Amino acid sequence: MSYISDKSVQQIYDTIKVEDVVGDFVHLKRRGINHIGLCPFHNEKTPSFNVSAVKGIFKCFGCGEGGDAVQFVMKIENLSYPEALRWLAKKYNIQLEEIAPSAEILEKQQAADSLYIVNAFAQEYFQSQLFETDYGKSIGLQYFKERGLREETIRRFGLGYSNGINSDLVQTSTGKGYKLEIMQSAGLASSAGKDFFRQRVMFPIHNISGKVLGFGGRTLSTDKKTPKYLNTPESEIYHKSKILYGISQAKKAILQENMCYMVEGYMDVITLSQAGIENVVASSGTSLTVGQIQLVKRFSPNLTILYDGDAAGIKAALRGLELVLEQDMNVKVLLIPDGEDPDSYLQKVGVTAFREFLQKEAVDFILFKTRLLLKDAKNDPMKRAELIKDLVESISHIPDTLKRSVYVKQCSDLMDIGEQILHNEINKRIASKLKKNLEVENKSDRQDSELPTPLEPGFDETSIFIPEKSRAHDFLEKDIARILIMFGNKELTQNETVAEYILINMSDIIDEFDSPIFAEVVEICIETLSAAKELKPEIFIQHKNPKISELAIDVISTPYEYSANWEKLNVFLNSQKMPDDNHVADAKSGILRFKLRKIERLMGKNQSEIKKVQDEGGNLEEIMKLLKVQQKLILMRGEIAKEQNTVVLK
Ligand code: UTP
Ligand code: MN
Repeated sequence: MSYISDKSVQQIYDTIKVEDVVGDFVHLKRRGINHIGLCPFHNEKTPSFNVSAVKGIFKCFGCGEGGDAVQFVMKIENLSYPEALRWLAKKYNIQLEEIAPSAEILEKQQAADSLYIVNAFAQEYFQSQLFETDYGKSIGLQYFKERGLREETIRRFGLGYSNGINSDLVQTSTGKGYKLEIMQSAGLASSAGKDFFRQRVMFPIHNISGKVLGFGGRTLSTDKKTPKYLNTPESEIYHKSKILYGISQAKKAILQENMCYMVEGYMDVITLSQAGIENVVASSGTSLTVGQIQLVKRFSPNLTILYDGDAAGIKAALRGLELVLEQDMNVKVLLIPDGEDPDSYLQKVGVTAFREFLQKEAVDFILFKTRLLLKDAKNDPMKRAELIKDLVESISHIPDTLKRSVYVKQCSDLMDIGEQILHNEINKRIASKLKKNLEVENKSDRQDSELPTPLEPGFDETSIFIPEKSRAHDFLEKDIARILIMFGNKELTQNETVAEYILINMSDIIDEFDSPIFAEVVEICIETLSAAKELKPEIFIQHKNPKISELAIDVISTPYEYSANWEKLNVFLNSQKMPDDNHVADAKSGILRFKLRKIERLMGKNQSEIKKVQDEGGNLEEIMKLLKVQQKLILMRGEIAKEQNTVVLK
């Protein structure tokens, strides 16, 4: 426990190259002086993730993430600032100068980190037992080798051996000054003060950033009475439901392959990983939890679950999978044949055949479930009806409408039942879930959110009528285009230009441009920035589309004045300064004005929709849904108005 000296921190910053660091996780291509790739922080198909070697920063125009190399490491590895610095020092072989902390800080940190510390100690201890003692070598190492593991793999996963007969871990650790209570809290010592793991080969279990949270220990005895695996009991840092075995070793591959394999056992992870299928984690024999899914989702939305075992077990496991669908993951399922598990099957058929098997056999979750259950149901009408209900329930958990309808089609084909009937059933379920959610949220909303107060009694904001098309949009769009053309490459903050700021802050509403010509200005900006070219007004003036060049000449040559119409449209004027001196506030308030208008328009649209549904006799669920949307929009509008005030006051 110590600090990194300022000198060392400076040395790290002087050495690191953002394109190197990011390149460890993202496949980057050169584009001019910049690099570009697929953003690791959100799901995208076309690259909008930019790395500027010159500025030493990364920036995603899709989701807005950005920062320097240290921030990148913090974000992607889930590390604190000092942890990220140490990570980088390791990568670049920088010897850190450490400064001892005060006794007070030391004590505090030790209390917080004590469990990690003893786990790290135990991991090293078990590992040295495995490689350096006679019994470790002849029993543990021998065992791993018989199971086909190479030494580098054993080291990569930090495997070890616990002898434990004479409580040698407890002896050694307490001898070195570690407290017995902490060993007990970490689950390494029993309440009687004996070693918890005895005569087992040890699998350390890491968190995302590679810290040891606990262990799984496998017995080598064939005695049926001893449990095959002993795992660390729940502790302050070991929460079974939030742990995925292998995530620390797999995360990079999951990002790169944009896919994650989920298996059941420790050995399955290690064997697959050794064979080059590194994007693999294990649920460690428990049914999947939301916490585990969310861990995977940070790296990829695509999950393939490898099941082994009997049909009954798999059916039970499938029931838990609704949870994965709710997280909007794309789930495929695959069955390992012949009573094998992924580890033994890979050893049996070899890597090439195994990879081919993964490619060919992975089946979409719903299809898999249907096929499996259809076998039982055959032509029994009652069983078929049950199955249909079951499938409908599963599909109704998928949040994405488009995906849902693909499944409905598939299910309709497979079960030979009309799509409309399925849709109706699914919609019923969704509607009732929605109603429940709304009731719950409404209750909590009233307590903690500030809905705008109605202007007068009986006045309801949801009934404000806002025309869908109005000239205001045109003004505002032109205004954004003007700012982009004239001040696009001006610095807004230390490492952000006006254009970067605008594009990032508008990514969610960029599709809302009415006028194709203004939308094209935005497109040009994105292209130019992605190609690392300077966004000069000339780019627009000399553009091959004559409309763009006309527009550019128009905005540049027209002496700037605030349109008289704007006042009528209740648009803020920033200040009396000419916009040339004022591009910061200008850019910020330009976006806010634009967003505000777009939101008001959406409110108008939504409101006509409500009226329409009411006129048609009113489906309650539908109306509730629309009202909920309206409420959200009102809240958003309130927030933007608040922001406007702060920008204008600056
Ligand atoms: P398996 O029984 O399939 O074991 O349990 P395995 O991983 O294939 O191990 P080998 O190949 O026999 O060595 C799957 C997972 O379930 C958990 C472990 O995480 C194991 O890897 N498990 C199993 C336990 O936690 N305790 C047990 O007693 C058994
Ligand atoms: Mn196995």
